Amino acid sequence: MRKSVILLLILIGGNIVFAQSDSIIAIRTKNNELVYSVAQNHKVYQLFLGQKLNNNIELLKSDYEKHEIYIPFGGSDLFESAIRTVHNDGNPSLELQYVKYLTNRIDDNVTETVIFLKDNQYPFEVSLHFKAYYSEDIIEQWVEIVHQEKKPLTLFNFSSAMLHLNASVYWLTQFHSDWAQEMRMEESQLTSGIKVIDSKLGTRADVYQTPFFMIGLNKAADENNGEVLAGTLAWTGNFKFTFEVNNKNSLRIISGINPYASEYKLIPGKIFVTPSFIFAYSHSGKELASQNLQRWTRKYSLLDGDKPRLTLLNNWETTFFDFNEQKLTGLIGDAKKLGVDMFLLDDGWFANKYPRNNDKTSLGDWEPNKTKLPNGIAVLVKEADKQGVKFGIWIEPEMVNPKSELYEKHPDWIIRLPNRPEHFSRNQLVLDLPNPKVQDFVYGVLDKIMTDNPGIAYIKWDCNRPMTSSYSPYLKDNQSALYIEYVEALYKIFERVRQKYPHLPIMLCSGGGGRIDYKALRYFTEFWPSDNTDPYERVFIQWGYSYYMPTIATCNHITSWGKQSIKFKTDVAMMGKMGYDIQISHLNDKELKFSQDAVVNYKRISDIIWFGTMYRLVSPYENNRAVVLFSNESKSKVILFSYTLNTRFGEVFNRVKLRGLAADKNYKVQEINLFPEPKSKFSEDGKIFSGDYLMKVGLTVSSNQALSSSVFEISQI
Ligand code: DGJ
Repeated sequence: MRKSVILLLILIGGNIVFAQSDSIIAIRTKNNELVYSVAQNHKVYQLFLGQKLNNNIELLKSDYEKHEIYIPFGGSDLFESAIRTVHNDGNPSLELQYVKYLTNRIDDNVTETVIFLKDNQYPFEVSLHFKAYYSEDIIEQWVEIVHQEKKPLTLFNFSSAMLHLNASVYWLTQFHSDWAQEMRMEESQLTSGIKVIDSKLGTRADVYQTPFFMIGLNKAADENNGEVLAGTLAWTGNFKFTFEVNNKNSLRIISGINPYASEYKLIPGKIFVTPSFIFAYSHSGKELASQNLQRWTRKYSLLDGDKPRLTLLNNWETTFFDFNEQKLTGLIGDAKKLGVDMFLLDDGWFANKYPRNNDKTSLGDWEPNKTKLPNGIAVLVKEADKQGVKFGIWIEPEMVNPKSELYEKHPDWIIRLPNRPEHFSRNQLVLDLPNPKVQDFVYGVLDKIMTDNPGIAYIKWDCNRPMTSSYSPYLKDNQSALYIEYVEALYKIFERVRQKYPHLPIMLCSGGGGRIDYKALRYFTEFWPSDNTDPYERVFIQWGYSYYMPTIATCNHITSWGKQSIKFKTDVAMMGKMGYDIQISHLNDKELKFSQDAVVNYKRISDIIWFGTMYRLVSPYENNRAVVLFSNESKSKVILFSYTLNTRFGEVFNRVKLRGLAADKNYKVQEINLFPEPKSKFSEDGKIFSGDYLMKVGLTVSSNQALSSSVFEISQI
């Protein structure tokens, strides 16, 4: 009895003795640091995560809560573990002890630190990798696991990161979704115990829960105040975040691939590399965290994040499956008339035995349909070229409809259960990507289109269903590898695509939002945030993505979804990568002229929206309007968007204090995208104010008419 009491004291009293000052391992960015230390028990502990300290050695003597860096299952810890396996002799525990650490300065901005741990009894090693991105204040973490036991080991848990936070209360911001309802922001206080946010969709990270979260420390963080940690997992498949508040009110965040139905057999000598967990810590609210994440994504995640994008006219919502060569030639002409860079041909152009005239057939049969397109795709590419616009095309190569030649020829290439009926979603099934022959096929779909039609300038890569009835004929008796192998196979395909077509713009689409994560974005230039293009809803959806995603990657199309004016639709689409999917011939002359001018305006200001710093000034979650602002690096130009959503009483909206200007410079305020009146209704339009005034006094930017909008170009003079 006495013995167990003493043991308990050691466990919960944290009787940890740290060796000496040189045992500090600090992962530092410009403003923050994550500090670890090696204790005399040879274990590594997290001492601190927060704003950089002048002297982090003081942490060694403080009673600030310390937590083991990557707690394995089977030791003395009584809460959720970061890793679990069972050794060849049946021992179900790991004891991870410090071996060494290395620091490698990759370049002026990036430093990698690796902390090596090893089981003290078994040949089992875990190395914890940290990349610190100095100027963006971002830390990327992942884990590599390897063993040399005689037989394979099963990994039951294999998280990418375990972080510990100490605060009085924790506020979780999560973003949940459904089709056409993406990125719905929700905030709640974490209570004692576990909260899990995860997904089990197989082909992507998100439909219902997104792989993005924020934790406000001590209080709910707002835009410009409070400590906040914004995290995400770079993985295009099942993910899991576990938030556990323990008996001492410490928060443990475990992030990684969802281990759900995914016990992983690790053969001796093979290194299991987890995906990266990426986070931004901010001591002054969500805005700074988002700005850093957006900047980091453009530089280190998104393909060609520093290059311009193409404006486009898409035909999906205007024609659906009902088109032919003549109609498309007309639409190519419309793209030209509008002034956009490209025409994008969507779903419905392929298959002959079972023509793609609706979503029930044909996926898998990627030959142009001879009835709709007797002269193939090449003639359309030529036509576009003749008209001076580029041509892009839609594919969904990972999928198959049962009514297709592919299904008839390769029944063994399909993910579905033996002895059970097939389960369809959007009438289709998922191909068995772990099978290398299927990988060749999927890669071949894109490669053949590009080879047959070398002028194609853009691809929209769609993925319209998650995985259910998850059984891979190829993986045979190793089914628990399927969720992981699917994503790994996808990356292999993307790698091949990028080797041959390094800069081809490709949109990542997934039946609306859902396949949006930092790893997939390495291979894509942009993503489709939602099938919901109603601009009222889009204000919220685009607002939600902006916490993590740069606007240059966020495709916003002007469509006929929603009854708002063409101006409101255009102004909403402009706050990201603008495109059109609307019947141009249905616009009246004035609307067409407005749209043509808007494209010209957009081309003039898009580099500020794409590469500038974003400030969310007024939240639609807290107000009847939303206001956002983009400022270029030199602060010489600012673009401000204001969207009035509702007005119950015709209330007057307050002035908005701008951000991101130079206080000592003067700026001319000019409203642009004016419609239907050619003159601004704002009396400050055309006037000159100092940056100091605009930031301290502000501007009137919102009309009190529901579903109205205004765009201001504010230029230094
Ligand atoms: C879902 C996408 O989100 C839409 O934009 C469109 O491409 C359809 N698929 C086509 O089937």
